[in-house]
Amino acid sequence: MNMNDMIIKKRDKGVLTEEEIQFFVKGYTEGAVPDYQASALLMAIYFNGMNKEETYALTTAMRDSGDIVDLSAIRGIKVDKHSTGGVGDKTTLIVGPMAAACGVPIAKMSGRGLGFTGGTVDKMESIPGFRTTLEEQEFVNLVNENGISVIGQTGSIAPADKKIYALRDVTGTVENLSLITSSIMSKKLASGSDAIVLDVKCGDGAFMESLEDARRLGELMVEIGNADGKRTAAVITDMDQPLGRAVGNSLEVIEAIETLKGNGPEDITLLSQTLAGIMVYLGGKAASPEEGYRMAGESLQSGAALEKMRLFIKGQGGDPRILDDAGLFPQHQFAVEVTSPGAGFIQKIKARQVGIASQHAGAGRAAKGDAIDMTAGIYLHKKVGDAALEGETLATVFANDEQKAAAAAEELLSAYQIGEEMLQTNKLIKEII
Ligand code: URA
Repeated sequence: MNMNDMIIKKRDKGVLTEEEIQFFVKGYTEGAVPDYQASALLMAIYFNGMNKEETYALTTAMRDSGDIVDLSAIRGIKVDKHSTGGVGDKTTLIVGPMAAACGVPIAKMSGRGLGFTGGTVDKMESIPGFRTTLEEQEFVNLVNENGISVIGQTGSIAPADKKIYALRDVTGTVENLSLITSSIMSKKLASGSDAIVLDVKCGDGAFMESLEDARRLGELMVEIGNADGKRTAAVITDMDQPLGRAVGNSLEVIEAIETLKGNGPEDITLLSQTLAGIMVYLGGKAASPEEGYRMAGESLQSGAALEKMRLFIKGQGGDPRILDDAGLFPQHQFAVEVTSPGAGFIQKIKARQVGIASQHAGAGRAAKGDAIDMTAGIYLHKKVGDAALEGETLATVFANDEQKAAAAAEELLSAYQIGEEMLQTNKLIKEII
């Protein structure tokens, strides 16, 4: 078997065998296959695609490239939740405590943000004292005691994905159905949960811009999860404007806390309750997703989800007083308001551009390993469908660097599309698979 033959086969629209796919994944992970051959194969896959069997073989080869986490020491049906990546998406910090309050053990591994999308681990680290790296035994104990623990994903899970993703990121091969599916599902299948709920983002701020592509991605991931023995569901959700109003690490944690108190934006509350409802159902604590949805709603009203958040933060060394006093988060130095250049209705807020502006304000990384400013970010006072008068504040940029704040404010203004007509807002929950 050799890489050149495989590249030519895929270039000519051939179907790779399981053995060939395993040969590539093992060889590339171990350094025997050079970047130039891996890049050529990825580009051939990008253009000519993979069928279901090839995608499943790629997923399992990547899953088996590292450790498979054993969560059997945790009692109950463990349900994982994953978002394909968006802007302002802080749902894990809401859905986790909600599902835990309904009796579903949450033992989750999350990632960091890269580029214009945020990551749960960075958000959690904005909580003073919070630890995202725990020994396995402490992680297991916390889930058994408190019902919830979320940690950073270790390098030993699907190391093949780590290498392949980094290569895709710089070779124009990210946005491909089979490559995204294998990347996400290899990590999920190695993470030890019994069931998986996927939030597939669709729109301007997502990898899949059209509903049709998002649906194909959701269906394929669900099929692969189920084929691997894990009950899997997917929800296709709108990412044509940021989720909620806050974008940036500590700002998003504050919005998540407000949502757990019942004061969150409508979109975040609806999506969190929907995802938590499906998790509660797959976790065997509700007879249907609808019943799960009702239970998740009750966990907000009763304060039980907020209480879980308190235990979660305390358990991982964070300061739980932030739940009652947002002033305990480190504070930004500069706030720049973005005002409306004219009167009209907000017709669109380009999510990707908001994510980039937030990143430029200091909230995200341009490259892996860059330091981020936990206090930087954006608050959207106006969202799609709102009316704005000339000079009225649309959004505020927060930063610790005046120049960065000013540059981000300019980018943010161009993310807003304002017109005379009030357009219909997109449906947030598009489909459930
Ligand atoms: N998230 C991942 O983990 N991988 C992808 O390929 C895309 C989004």
